[in-house]
Amino acid sequence: MSKTTVVAPANIAFVKYWGARDTERAIPFNRSISMTLERCHSVCTAEVISEERDQVWLAEPDGGFRAPEPEFDRRVREHLDRLRQWSGRNDRLWVATRNSFPSAAGLASSASGFAALTMAAAGALGKGNAPIEQLSRLARLSGSGSAARSILGGFVEWPAHNVDLNAPDADEKAFAYQIADADHWDLRDVIAVVELGPKVVSSLEGHRRAPTSPYFEKRQEILPERTRLVREAIEEQDLDTLGPLIEEESIDLHMIAMTSKPSIFYWSPGTVAVLKAVSELRQEGLSAWATLDAGANVHVICDPDSEQDVVDRLENLPAVGFLIRDGVGPGPDHDEEHLF
Ligand code: DP6
Repeated sequence: MSKTTVVAPANIAFVKYWGARDTERAIPFNRSISMTLERCHSVCTAEVISEERDQVWLAEPDGGFRAPEPEFDRRVREHLDRLRQWSGRNDRLWVATRNSFPSAAGLASSASGFAALTMAAAGALGKGNAPIEQLSRLARLSGSGSAARSILGGFVEWPAHNVDLNAPDADEKAFAYQIADADHWDLRDVIAVVELGPKVVSSLEGHRRAPTSPYFEKRQEILPERTRLVREAIEEQDLDTLGPLIEEESIDLHMIAMTSKPSIFYWSPGTVAVLKAVSELRQEGLSAWATLDAGANVHVICDPDSEQDVVDRLENLPAVGFLIRDGVGPGPDHDEEHLF
């Protein structure tokens, strides 16, 4: 049987998905915008097998395999059922997956993981040429909504601005689309890893709790205009406009999390140390801006000329375990090198 291997990147949200109208199907309250990364990615190989049950494995760097945690295993199996139903085929699959970066540290490993799984399994089930909109929607239905964005490269919005998220057809229409490709703008993302290990509360639980924050409604009022400005700043490659917008946006997300009931606090002392260093870099004239997803680690967005200065400053902070130097990337790709 032939194998399909897909490499799918993580993404960093500039406008965050936080709060779902429908957590089961990952239909968000608001649209979000992200930059697809390049070096932080997941690889997934899928192959049809003649067994009764799907085989789900995590590939180790040494070439070995281990069974995933029960919760991840359950989500993968459910997603494979969904993909079978969509493809009209009933074959069981052998799937193995591996991340290029620490899993579950707020570095969007589920986004890249489910994007890679969706595309690899679609390929193995004979639907490798399915329209990107279908793949993006399916990736979203994995429950990791941000996976819908990892199906595309460059700068991505999910869903498109003409989609009414309250309409009965929101499920079919809530897929991501590309605002601009990776060649449009060479932005860098220096990720300061200050904490390893799984995040304190899953994003799924965060989406459920978000509307309990007294500031959630205010955020929904602010977002349409902020989203429009972020889109425009990307189109115009204007970092001095984009930077403050994404930093405010990230602080708002964490403010919502901190004021949810019960409250969720993702920051660690290292987070504050990095945020302070980024603000100092700006006072020294650099255009570097911080954004965090649901975790303690900080993504510092900057242009290529500032990247080395950002690295020099952050790598000397005692709170920073290590840095990942990433940047905008072209999106998922097929690979001839399989995991098994
Ligand atoms: C804060 O439900 O897509 O990263 O399943 O953990 O990937 P995972 O999360 P998901 O929510 C993402 C929340 C966010 C913001 C964002 O990426 O838009």
